[in-house]
Amino acid sequence: MKKPWAGRFTQKTSGTVESFTESISFDRNLWKHDIEGSIAHARMLAKQRIITVREAAAIVAGLKRIARSISSKTFTFSPELEDIHMNIESALTEKIGAAGKKLHTARSRNDQVALDLRLYLKEQLQDIIAFLLKLQKTFLKLAEMHQETVMPGYTHLQRAQPVLLAHHLLAYVEMFQRDRERFRDCLQRTDVCPLGSCALAGTSLPTDRAYTAKLLGFRAISGNSIDAVSDRDFALEFLSSSAILMMHLSRLAEELILWSTEEFSFIEISDRFTTGSSIMPQKKNPDVAELLRGKTGRIYGNLMALLTLMKGLPLAYNRDMQEDKLPVFDSAETIKACLIVLQEMIQDVKFNTKRLRETAGEGYSTATDIAEYLVRKGVPFREAHEITGRIVLLCISRNIPLTGLSLAELRGFSVKISRDMLALLDPAASVKARSSYGGTSLSEVKRQIRQFRKLLK
Ligand code: ARG
Repeated sequence: MKKPWAGRFTQKTSGTVESFTESISFDRNLWKHDIEGSIAHARMLAKQRIITVREAAAIVAGLKRIARSISSKTFTFSPELEDIHMNIESALTEKIGAAGKKLHTARSRNDQVALDLRLYLKEQLQDIIAFLLKLQKTFLKLAEMHQETVMPGYTHLQRAQPVLLAHHLLAYVEMFQRDRERFRDCLQRTDVCPLGSCALAGTSLPTDRAYTAKLLGFRAISGNSIDAVSDRDFALEFLSSSAILMMHLSRLAEELILWSTEEFSFIEISDRFTTGSSIMPQKKNPDVAELLRGKTGRIYGNLMALLTLMKGLPLAYNRDMQEDKLPVFDSAETIKACLIVLQEMIQDVKFNTKRLRETAGEGYSTATDIAEYLVRKGVPFREAHEITGRIVLLCISRNIPLTGLSLAELRGFSVKISRDMLALLDPAASVKARSSYGGTSLSEVKRQIRQFRKLLK
């Protein structure tokens, strides 16, 4: 097949080089966006009288026919034509003849590929933002259901202080909110049209870049043609936001894995979202959560791959940049799959509220409540901490909970302690007392729920 750039060559490209340099095996993923971009470009060329209205109509009709043939899988992609851009352009010329050869006027593959990737990513970002919203809503609903459930809160994976399960769940709603904002922000910078920047310097032909951008639904056009064809920041922002999202999903997955162990027994993941072992008949494994955790590695890798790819490139376009697509496609597909499966799995999780309540008060988790009680009685915090530490030590030596000591024994540690302190040792009371802004008290949890109900509407 004749290459559109064959004019200046006297020898045929080596077959090894063809298979080494091709990108059609993966950039065919961009076919819809490539055609969409070309249709807008052709319309602009006609409006500017660079081509005739008749030629533009033939181009648009030809491109639409190609689109139908690709979506019905009857189109043959050929590696000799390198990439999606040349495959489509060459098919167009074959179909409509001379007018097809005018499509590439006032454009280059450099601005074309930048355009396609932006169009693709805009679409992906919109989906991802919607999936994240759905996930947040699911977590919010779970939080609403568990406003009264007390559980042990952890630091260092040691029981620290009782918290509301709703509070813990809402922590993820906060994380996903930041993730969603990062993707929305990335969408703003992706939503800039590079088409018309041509190879790197713009064109001498009388184009109307704003018109093409408007047809394609972009909010802005790029201001510097050299930057427009060299810039992959938008893809990097996407990959970095994806890496941060996956870090969140991975932490959650780790909790789901831990919490579903016999040892924790905080949750049960439904049969539909667990898998069995081929040798141990009793097993029910949290493989979905493990894969969510495991896929995080690849998503981090994709960010590193593109950062490394871009770091030494002189301006403007370099062929290295063809390698930008695989990490972007992979991250987009992977995080969408992760968000969907997680949302389905989490709404099916059963919380063992009895066990959560029982363990909430274990491990001297209300010790801080004694210290804060003493502070309210005028004892300096460091002293109160010391006194409480000695109380805990005594309980440990006797293997009893804090509630196992008599009032007289407690007063032996400090005369500031009186009967009203005993009520504070109950985990529910401990939670209720933590009403500082953003704390775990029911009143604060309800405030968070109200806030997110409004925000996620
Ligand atoms: N397949 C190329 C890519 O993905 C398209 C741009 C080619 N530009 C060039 N000057 N060879 O980057």
